[in-house]
Amino acid sequence: MNIGIPSEIAPGENRVAMTPANVAVFTGRGHRVVVQAGAGDAAGYPDSAFVEAGAEIGSDRDAIFANAEIVLQVQGFGANAVNSEQDLARVRPGQLLMASMDPLAAPQAAAQVAERGATAVALELVPRISRAQSMDVLSSMATLAGYKAVLTAAMASPRIFPMLMTAAGTLQPARVFVMGAGVAGLQACATAKRLGAVVEAYDVRPAAQEQILSVGAKPIELDLDTGTSEGSGGYAKEQGEEFLARQRELMTEVIAQQDVVITTAAVPGAKSPILVTADMVKAMKPGSVIVDLAAERGGNCELTEQGKTVIVHGVTIIGPENVPATVEYHASQMYGKNLENLLNLMLSEEEQLNLNFDDEVIAGTVVAHAGEVVHPHMRKLLGLPDLAAADAAPAN
Ligand code: NAI
Repeated sequence: MNIGIPSEIAPGENRVAMTPANVAVFTGRGHRVVVQAGAGDAAGYPDSAFVEAGAEIGSDRDAIFANAEIVLQVQGFGANAVNSEQDLARVRPGQLLMASMDPLAAPQAAAQVAERGATAVALELVPRISRAQSMDVLSSMATLAGYKAVLTAAMASPRIFPMLMTAAGTLQPARVFVMGAGVAGLQACATAKRLGAVVEAYDVRPAAQEQILSVGAKPIELDLDTGTSEGSGGYAKEQGEEFLARQRELMTEVIAQQDVVITTAAVPGAKSPILVTADMVKAMKPGSVIVDLAAERGGNCELTEQGKTVIVHGVTIIGPENVPATVEYHASQMYGKNLENLLNLMLSEEEQLNLNFDDEVIAGTVVAHAGEVVHPHMRKLLGLPDLAAADAAPAN
């Protein structure tokens, strides 16, 4: 197959879809891989390393799209809302596009690709099953974001994290509180712990308690009915306003004692729940730091401004965007490995494209195919009838 890896064009996107190590796997099996010149530069993978891995370097983006049967990207249509439109005219019928597409928030991107007659795989939709863990970019990128959030907080804090007993007196360890103990939150706990902080964490999923303990942090329990907080596939369900109001009340006291708060609570496709209100920020100690990893989805803190650092009531509130792109070398390594594993699933033993829709990973991630948005949930989001119903309907 002809595989194309164009440069990322979204502002600030430093990652590349595959590293030379992933490329070598495919060139070694006889595939032709063309990487756009400089595509890996920002992430620390120069053109020469791709050439060593058997890839060709192409300087013409049009030609890469025109020749590739498979196009691999980090931020594809939907995910890159800034300037991906320019690539749409380059997409051709029958081509397979594999990328992050932010499918639940930007379902129209799948419809645009379908209109061009291409097939699109949205990497965010990899199902949460054991077999697909190695293909799951949400998890791998969340791991890095959780790590980096702690370092960001440590840099912004006027305190150090570990306890120090010195001739110049004793320094108390920083208190770090992580809200949302999913993949990012648990990595944040582990990282803060390694820096010597006293770490506590909270999640609505009862199962998270054990996971919090396993990374050396202390779970905070609130007197709330969390019985139905976990939806299908391990994701959190959206909570009602009454639940969230009670949660905020109990949380104010906990938050007032912290030096650092890291929030990671996301609900797929929905606006993030507000976990830290303006009143809670007011109750915090001056010099405290909040890093809001949900900033791109509206934020878990009421005062977060996406992409900015603001200081309110003496508290520094950081709302970072695209955190994985700030650890671009390893983010590309993990993203590339996820993509390599998913692409392997879509190739037959004869190394041809083989989309077996009986496989739940393939059925779950292909959003556009043969001129249609084929993903049932995305059809619903777009207000389209079920495909079966559409087939049954008369042609006019
Ligand atoms: P996420 O990024 O969707 O959300 C982050 C965390 O925020 C979740 O733990 C969620 O429960 C929590 N949250 C949501 N609303 C909240 C609220 N109001 N207050 C406090 N916390 C709230 O989730 P993530 O990190 O992607 O993973 C969630 C679960 O899925 C974890 O248990 C993880 O182990 C599991 N998982 C399983 C995978 C697999 O089996 N292949 C792959 C990835 C995750």
